[in-house]
Amino acid sequence: MTGGYDDRGNRDVSIANPAGGSAAHPVPAGGRAQPAPGGPFLIGEAMTGGYGRGADILHACTIAVERGEIAVIVGPNGAGKSTAMKAMFGMLDLRAGTVRLDGEDITAISPQARVREGMGFVPQTQNIFASMTVEENLEMGAFVRRDDFRDTMAQVYDLFPVLKEKRRQPAGELSGGQRQQVAVGRALMTRPKVLLLDEPTAGVSPIVMDELFDRIVEVARTGLPVLMVEQNARQALEIADKAYVLVQGANAHTGTGRALLHDPQVRRSFLGG
Ligand SMILES: Nc1ncnc2c1ncn2[C@@H]1O[C@H](COP(=O)(O)OP(=O)(O)O)[C@@H](O)[C@H]1O
Ligand SMILES: [Mg+2]
Repeated sequence: MTGGYDDRGNRDVSIANPAGGSAAHPVPAGGRAQPAPGGPFLIGEAMTGGYGRGADILHACTIAVERGEIAVIVGPNGAGKSTAMKAMFGMLDLRAGTVRLDGEDITAISPQARVREGMGFVPQTQNIFASMTVEENLEMGAFVRRDDFRDTMAQVYDLFPVLKEKRRQPAGELSGGQRQQVAVGRALMTRPKVLLLDEPTAGVSPIVMDELFDRIVEVARTGLPVLMVEQNARQALEIADKAYVLVQGANAHTGTGRALLHDPQVRRSFLGG
Protein backbone atom coordinates (compact mmCIF):
# COMPACT_ATOMS: atom_id res chain seq x y z
CA MET A 1 0.00 0.00 0.00
CA THR A 2 1.38 3.38 -0.89
CA GLY A 3 1.28 6.35 1.44
CA GLY A 4 -0.84 8.46 -0.86
CA TYR A 5 -3.83 6.22 -0.37
CA ASP A 6 -3.74 6.12 3.42
CA ASP A 7 -5.00 9.62 3.91
CA ARG A 8 -8.44 8.80 5.22
CA GLY A 9 -10.91 10.90 7.13
CA ASN A 10 -10.66 14.19 5.29
CA ARG A 11 -13.39 13.71 2.77
CA ASP A 12 -15.27 16.70 4.09
CA VAL A 13 -12.89 19.33 2.85
CA SER A 14 -10.80 19.30 -0.21
CA ILE A 15 -12.64 17.08 -2.66
CA ALA A 16 -14.71 20.13 -3.37
CA ASN A 17 -13.21 23.21 -4.88
CA PRO A 18 -15.77 25.45 -3.28
CA ALA A 19 -17.42 28.07 -5.36
CA GLY A 20 -16.24 31.51 -4.43
CA GLY A 21 -13.07 30.19 -2.80
CA SER A 22 -9.65 31.56 -3.57
CA ALA A 23 -8.72 28.68 -5.87
CA ALA A 24 -6.51 29.65 -8.77
CA HIS A 25 -8.66 30.77 -11.64
CA PRO A 26 -6.91 30.27 -14.97
CA VAL A 27 -8.34 33.31 -16.63
CA PRO A 28 -6.02 35.79 -18.28
CA ALA A 29 -5.85 39.12 -16.51
CA GLY A 30 -8.07 41.79 -17.93
CA GLY A 31 -10.93 41.49 -20.33
CA ARG A 32 -13.38 39.56 -18.20
CA ALA A 33 -16.03 41.05 -16.01
CA GLN A 34 -15.88 40.39 -12.28
CA PRO A 35 -18.06 37.49 -11.16
CA ALA A 36 -21.47 38.57 -9.99
CA PRO A 37 -21.56 38.12 -6.21
CA GLY A 38 -25.20 37.02 -6.14
CA GLY A 39 -26.79 34.94 -8.87
CA PRO A 40 -26.64 31.20 -9.43
CA PHE A 41 -23.23 29.58 -9.61
CA LEU A 42 -24.04 27.99 -12.95
CA ILE A 43 -26.90 28.99 -15.19
CA GLY A 44 -27.99 28.15 -18.70
CA GLU A 45 -30.39 30.97 -19.41
CA ALA A 46 -33.04 30.91 -22.12
CA MET A 47 -31.11 28.26 -24.05
CA THR A 48 -32.42 27.61 -27.55
CA GLY A 49 -30.76 25.19 -29.94
CA GLY A 50 -30.47 21.70 -31.34
CA TYR A 51 -28.04 19.36 -33.03
CA GLY A 52 -26.21 20.51 -36.11
CA ARG A 53 -28.61 22.02 -38.59
CA GLY A 54 -31.56 20.13 -37.11
CA ALA A 55 -34.63 21.64 -35.51
CA ASP A 56 -34.35 23.25 -32.10
CA ILE A 57 -34.60 20.79 -29.24
CA LEU A 58 -34.35 23.38 -26.46
CA HIS A 59 -36.78 26.27 -26.40
CA ALA A 60 -35.71 29.13 -24.13
CA CYS A 61 -34.81 26.59 -21.51
CA THR A 62 -33.37 27.87 -18.23
CA ILE A 63 -31.51 25.66 -15.75
CA ALA A 64 -29.45 26.84 -12.80
CA VAL A 65 -27.68 25.58 -9.73
CA GLU A 66 -26.83 27.71 -6.73
CA ARG A 67 -23.77 27.50 -4.55
CA GLY A 68 -23.95 24.60 -2.10
CA GLU A 69 -27.12 23.18 -3.59
CA ILE A 70 -28.41 20.19 -5.51
CA ALA A 71 -30.53 20.97 -8.56
CA VAL A 72 -32.28 18.23 -10.48
CA ILE A 73 -33.82 18.01 -13.92
CA VAL A 74 -36.64 15.55 -14.43
CA GLY A 75 -39.06 14.99 -17.26
CA PRO A 76 -40.21 12.43 -19.79
CA ASN A 77 -37.91 10.56 -22.16
CA GLY A 78 -36.85 12.74 -25.03
CA ALA A 79 -37.73 15.95 -23.19
CA GLY A 80 -34.27 17.37 -23.80
CA LYS A 81 -32.73 16.79 -20.38
CA SER A 82 -29.48 15.42 -21.77
CA THR A 83 -29.50 18.07 -24.46
CA ALA A 84 -29.78 20.77 -21.79
CA MET A 85 -26.83 19.26 -19.91
CA LYS A 86 -24.78 19.08 -23.10
CA ALA A 87 -25.65 22.69 -23.86
CA MET A 88 -24.40 23.76 -20.45
CA PHE A 89 -21.21 21.81 -21.01
CA GLY A 90 -20.65 23.35 -24.44
CA MET A 91 -21.45 20.36 -26.63
CA LEU A 92 -24.24 22.15 -28.46
CA ASP A 93 -24.17 25.38 -30.44
CA LEU A 94 -26.86 27.53 -28.89
CA ARG A 95 -28.88 29.68 -31.25
CA ALA A 96 -29.93 31.87 -28.35
CA GLY A 97 -29.28 32.07 -24.65
CA THR A 98 -26.21 32.18 -22.47
CA VAL A 99 -24.34 29.95 -20.07
CA ARG A 100 -22.67 31.66 -17.13
CA LEU A 101 -20.35 30.12 -14.58
CA ASP A 102 -19.71 32.12 -11.45
CA GLY A 103 -20.95 35.20 -13.25
CA GLU A 104 -18.77 34.75 -16.31
CA ASP A 105 -20.25 34.22 -19.75
CA ILE A 106 -18.83 30.90 -20.96
CA THR A 107 -21.28 30.41 -23.84
CA ALA A 108 -18.56 30.51 -26.46
CA ILE A 109 -15.89 28.34 -24.86
CA SER A 110 -15.20 24.66 -25.56
CA PRO A 111 -16.06 21.78 -23.22
CA GLN A 112 -12.33 21.34 -22.50
CA ALA A 113 -12.09 24.98 -21.48
CA ARG A 114 -15.17 24.54 -19.29
CA VAL A 115 -13.44 21.68 -17.50
CA ARG A 116 -10.50 23.98 -16.82
CA GLU A 117 -12.96 26.57 -15.55
CA GLY A 118 -14.30 24.08 -13.03
CA MET A 119 -17.09 22.08 -14.65
CA GLY A 120 -17.16 18.34 -14.02
CA PHE A 121 -19.53 16.53 -16.38
CA VAL A 122 -20.61 12.89 -16.29
CA PRO A 123 -22.53 12.12 -19.50
CA GLN A 124 -25.43 9.70 -19.60
CA THR A 125 -23.62 7.14 -21.77
CA GLN A 126 -20.04 6.13 -22.48
CA ASN A 127 -18.86 7.78 -19.31
CA ILE A 128 -15.98 5.40 -18.52
CA PHE A 129 -13.11 3.75 -20.37
CA ALA A 130 -14.19 0.12 -20.08
CA SER A 131 -10.85 -1.46 -21.02
CA MET A 132 -8.85 0.69 -18.64
CA THR A 133 -8.54 -0.09 -14.94
CA VAL A 134 -10.52 1.81 -12.35
CA GLU A 135 -7.40 3.67 -11.32
CA GLU A 136 -6.46 4.55 -14.90
CA ASN A 137 -9.97 5.96 -15.32
CA LEU A 138 -9.43 8.18 -12.30
CA GLU A 139 -6.02 9.22 -13.61
CA MET A 140 -7.63 10.14 -16.93
CA GLY A 141 -10.00 12.35 -14.96
CA ALA A 142 -7.05 14.30 -13.64
CA PHE A 143 -5.76 15.11 -17.13
CA VAL A 144 -6.29 18.83 -16.71
CA ARG A 145 -4.26 18.94 -13.52
CA ARG A 146 -0.59 19.71 -13.26
CA ASP A 147 -0.43 19.27 -9.48
CA ASP A 148 -0.30 16.15 -7.33
CA PHE A 149 -3.71 14.51 -7.49
CA ARG A 150 -3.09 11.61 -5.13
CA ASP A 151 -5.02 13.25 -2.28
CA THR A 152 -8.03 13.64 -4.52
CA MET A 153 -7.76 10.01 -5.55
CA ALA A 154 -7.65 9.00 -1.87
CA GLN A 155 -10.79 11.06 -1.30
CA VAL A 156 -12.55 9.40 -4.20
CA TYR A 157 -11.61 6.03 -2.71
CA ASP A 158 -12.93 7.22 0.68
CA LEU A 159 -16.20 8.17 -0.96
CA PHE A 160 -16.41 4.94 -2.98
CA PRO A 161 -14.42 2.29 -1.06
CA VAL A 162 -15.28 -0.47 -3.54
CA LEU A 163 -13.31 1.40 -6.18
CA LYS A 164 -10.18 1.16 -4.09
CA GLU A 165 -10.72 -2.57 -3.77
CA LYS A 166 -11.14 -2.90 -7.53
CA ARG A 167 -8.64 -0.30 -8.63
CA ARG A 168 -6.58 -2.76 -10.68
CA GLN A 169 -9.61 -4.22 -12.50
CA PRO A 170 -10.80 -3.08 -15.92
CA ALA A 171 -13.71 -0.74 -15.27
CA GLY A 172 -15.83 -2.65 -17.79
CA GLU A 173 -15.85 -5.66 -15.45
CA LEU A 174 -17.57 -3.73 -12.66
CA SER A 175 -21.30 -3.73 -11.91
CA GLY A 176 -23.49 -0.92 -13.26
CA GLY A 177 -23.53 0.92 -9.94
CA GLN A 178 -19.77 0.59 -9.58
CA ARG A 179 -19.19 1.87 -13.10
CA GLN A 180 -21.29 4.91 -12.23
CA GLN A 181 -19.07 5.43 -9.20
CA VAL A 182 -16.05 5.33 -11.50
CA ALA A 183 -17.68 7.93 -13.75
CA VAL A 184 -18.48 10.24 -10.84
CA GLY A 185 -15.03 9.64 -9.35
CA ARG A 186 -13.38 10.47 -12.66
CA ALA A 187 -15.24 13.81 -12.76
CA LEU A 188 -14.26 14.54 -9.16
CA MET A 189 -10.59 14.05 -10.04
CA THR A 190 -10.57 17.45 -11.77
CA ARG A 191 -11.58 19.01 -8.42
CA PRO A 192 -14.56 20.65 -10.11
CA LYS A 193 -16.38 23.68 -8.79
CA VAL A 194 -19.69 22.29 -10.04
CA LEU A 195 -20.66 18.72 -10.88
CA LEU A 196 -23.07 17.83 -13.72
CA LEU A 197 -24.47 14.29 -13.63
CA ASP A 198 -26.71 12.91 -16.36
CA GLU A 199 -28.72 10.01 -14.94
CA PRO A 200 -26.09 8.70 -12.53
CA THR A 201 -28.45 5.96 -11.35
CA ALA A 202 -29.52 4.68 -14.78
CA GLY A 203 -29.83 0.92 -14.84
CA VAL A 204 -28.98 0.26 -11.20
CA SER A 205 -31.06 -1.53 -8.56
CA PRO A 206 -33.10 0.52 -6.07
CA ILE A 207 -30.67 -0.27 -3.25
CA VAL A 208 -27.69 0.83 -5.32
CA MET A 209 -29.64 3.91 -6.38
CA ASP A 210 -30.23 4.91 -2.72
CA GLU A 211 -26.55 4.36 -2.01
CA LEU A 212 -25.48 6.49 -4.99
CA PHE A 213 -27.90 9.24 -3.96
CA ASP A 214 -26.40 9.19 -0.46
CA ARG A 215 -22.92 9.60 -1.90
CA ILE A 216 -24.05 12.42 -4.20
CA VAL A 217 -25.67 14.22 -1.26
CA GLU A 218 -22.44 13.71 0.66
CA VAL A 219 -20.44 15.27 -2.17
CA ALA A 220 -22.86 18.20 -2.33
CA ARG A 221 -22.53 18.72 1.43
CA THR A 222 -18.81 19.35 0.96
CA GLY A 223 -19.88 22.52 -0.81
CA LEU A 224 -19.80 21.27 -4.38
CA PRO A 225 -22.94 22.33 -6.28
CA VAL A 226 -24.50 19.39 -8.14
CA LEU A 227 -26.78 19.56 -11.17
CA MET A 228 -28.29 16.19 -11.94
CA VAL A 229 -30.68 14.66 -14.43
CA GLU A 230 -32.71 11.82 -12.93
CA GLN A 231 -35.34 9.47 -14.19
CA ASN A 232 -36.25 8.47 -10.64
CA ALA A 233 -38.26 11.65 -10.26
CA ARG A 234 -39.66 11.15 -6.78
CA GLN A 235 -36.34 10.24 -5.18
CA ALA A 236 -34.58 13.03 -7.03
CA LEU A 237 -37.11 15.64 -5.89
CA GLU A 238 -36.62 14.45 -2.31
CA ILE A 239 -32.95 15.46 -2.36
CA ALA A 240 -33.31 18.50 -4.61
CA ASP A 241 -32.96 22.04 -3.34
CA LYS A 242 -34.18 23.18 -6.74
CA ALA A 243 -35.93 21.17 -9.40
CA TYR A 244 -36.84 21.59 -13.04
CA VAL A 245 -39.42 19.64 -14.97
CA LEU A 246 -38.64 19.80 -18.67
CA VAL A 247 -41.21 18.95 -21.31
CA GLN A 248 -40.45 19.17 -25.03
CA GLY A 249 -37.32 21.20 -24.46
CA ALA A 250 -39.00 23.86 -22.35
CA ASN A 251 -39.40 24.57 -18.64
CA ALA A 252 -42.73 23.14 -17.50
CA HIS A 253 -42.35 23.43 -13.72
CA THR A 254 -39.67 24.94 -11.49
CA GLY A 255 -39.48 25.04 -7.74
CA THR A 256 -37.93 23.53 -4.66
CA GLY A 257 -37.89 19.75 -4.70
CA ARG A 258 -40.45 19.77 -1.92
CA ALA A 259 -42.78 22.17 -3.72
CA LEU A 260 -42.77 20.05 -6.86
CA LEU A 261 -43.27 16.85 -4.86
CA HIS A 262 -46.46 18.38 -3.51
CA ASP A 263 -47.60 20.08 -6.71
CA PRO A 264 -50.79 18.29 -7.80
CA GLN A 265 -50.09 18.77 -11.49
CA VAL A 266 -46.52 17.51 -11.21
CA ARG A 267 -47.74 14.56 -9.16
CA ARG A 268 -50.39 13.65 -11.68
CA SER A 269 -48.20 14.03 -14.74
CA PHE A 270 -44.82 12.85 -13.56
CA LEU A 271 -45.05 11.03 -10.24
CA GLY A 272 -47.94 8.70 -10.88
CA GLY A 273 -50.47 10.61 -8.76
N1 LIG B 1 -27.01 13.54 -31.06
C1 LIG B 1 -28.25 13.85 -31.43
N2 LIG B 1 -28.53 14.26 -32.68
C2 LIG B 1 -29.77 14.59 -33.04
N3 LIG B 1 -30.85 14.57 -32.23
C3 LIG B 1 -30.64 14.17 -30.95
C4 LIG B 1 -29.33 13.80 -30.48
N4 LIG B 1 -29.45 13.47 -29.18
C5 LIG B 1 -30.73 13.62 -28.85
N5 LIG B 1 -31.46 14.04 -29.92
C6 LIG B 1 -32.89 14.35 -29.91
O1 LIG B 1 -33.12 15.39 -28.99
C7 LIG B 1 -34.34 15.18 -28.28
C8 LIG B 1 -34.08 15.22 -26.79
O2 LIG B 1 -33.23 14.14 -26.45
P1 LIG B 1 -32.51 14.06 -25.05
O3 LIG B 1 -31.94 15.37 -24.70
O4 LIG B 1 -31.58 12.89 -25.11
O5 LIG B 1 -33.75 13.74 -24.08
P2 LIG B 1 -33.77 13.19 -22.59
O6 LIG B 1 -32.38 13.22 -22.05
O7 LIG B 1 -34.71 14.12 -21.86
O8 LIG B 1 -34.35 11.80 -22.67
C9 LIG B 1 -34.91 13.85 -28.77
O9 LIG B 1 -35.88 14.12 -29.73
C10 LIG B 1 -33.70 13.17 -29.40
O10 LIG B 1 -34.10 12.33 -30.45
MG1 LIG C 1 -31.12 11.75 -21.35
